[in-house]
Amino acid sequence: MANNQVRIVEVGPRDGLQNEKALLSSAIKVELIDRLSDCGHSTVEVSSFVSPKWVPQLADAAEVFTAIKQRSGVRYPVLVPNLQGMERALAVGAREVAIFAAASEAFSQKNTNGSIDEVLQRFEGVMERAKAAQVPVRGYVSCVLGCPYQGEVAQAEVVRISKRLYQMGCYEISLGDTIGVGTPRKAAALMQALASEIPITAIAGHFHDTYGQALANVYASLEVGVRVFDASVTGLGGCPYAKGATGNVATEDVLYLFDQLGLDSGVDLLALAKTGAWISAALGREHQSRAGRAILAKLAD
Ligand code: HMG
Ligand code: MG
Repeated sequence: MANNQVRIVEVGPRDGLQNEKALLSSAIKVELIDRLSDCGHSTVEVSSFVSPKWVPQLADAAEVFTAIKQRSGVRYPVLVPNLQGMERALAVGAREVAIFAAASEAFSQKNTNGSIDEVLQRFEGVMERAKAAQVPVRGYVSCVLGCPYQGEVAQAEVVRISKRLYQMGCYEISLGDTIGVGTPRKAAALMQALASEIPITAIAGHFHDTYGQALANVYASLEVGVRVFDASVTGLGGCPYAKGATGNVATEDVLYLFDQLGLDSGVDLLALAKTGAWISAALGREHQSRAGRAILAKLAD
């Protein structure tokens, strides 16, 4: 990637909708993903092939995945928690998947019903299957800056798990501040600690905005060389196993920052703000992106 290039992984349809109380129809989800593709996103995370008992909001992953219009050059990853999810994803033609582990034992049990090392073990089979199918795998690590159950999380543990996922073959590791408790110095220090073990080009930031620090964390990570960030349109969602956690940093806010810094993500901010307003209305909630609201207010003037 050139020095002014950044990549946004739009996680609204997955991380966002998995935690919205209002159940959306599959048709609205498909329209959301198609609109996000039309905004110029290069990666849109579509859904999760997890147990529908655990995340009923995304039980229609297969219907949604098969109905979206796949634009050429756009990546459409889906989450898989185990081999069963991997087979479901491959059956509908998924060409990229993401696996997810946690840096805290308690969260790992609540989110995936297994210890950290049991979950990593599960992924060995998923990675083998992905390799055979030539499907790239992205790795998430949750609770990297704090856990809703155990509080502090050791940086060394985050680095150990991230490194293991990378060595297993994940092309990129997304560091998840699942409950949004991180602050810029801690976020930057973590990015730097991991960058001494794996290439910085293989590290992504995934910040939730519970304490309003997500954009500051994005900026601090940019300053130490991270160029890939997860974000969700209009700040949708949260995490079903992390009470009180708000959604991801709003993509519109991240994009406004990138635009002002001269960083190129290829995404059209106005189109995204309109998409944020549209999905907010569909969910019966407020537009959560400050930049999105400001841009639309100016337009209406
Ligand atoms: P389990 O109950 O231990 O699973 O759940 P199991 O293997 O014992 O199977 C039990 C039942 O689930 C069986 O059905 C399986 O067939 C079914 P039954 O025989 O009872 O009818 N099952 C499945 N069905 C469909 N698809 C599957 C699947 N697997 C099993 N893939 C499991 C273990 C991992 C499956 C469960 O805990 C799970 O699905 N967890 C997912 C939770 C989740 O999606 N959390 C949110 C995503 S992570 C996140 O948001 C964080 C992130 O954004 C980064 C950040 O912010 O930090 C990524
Ligand atoms: Mg998340």
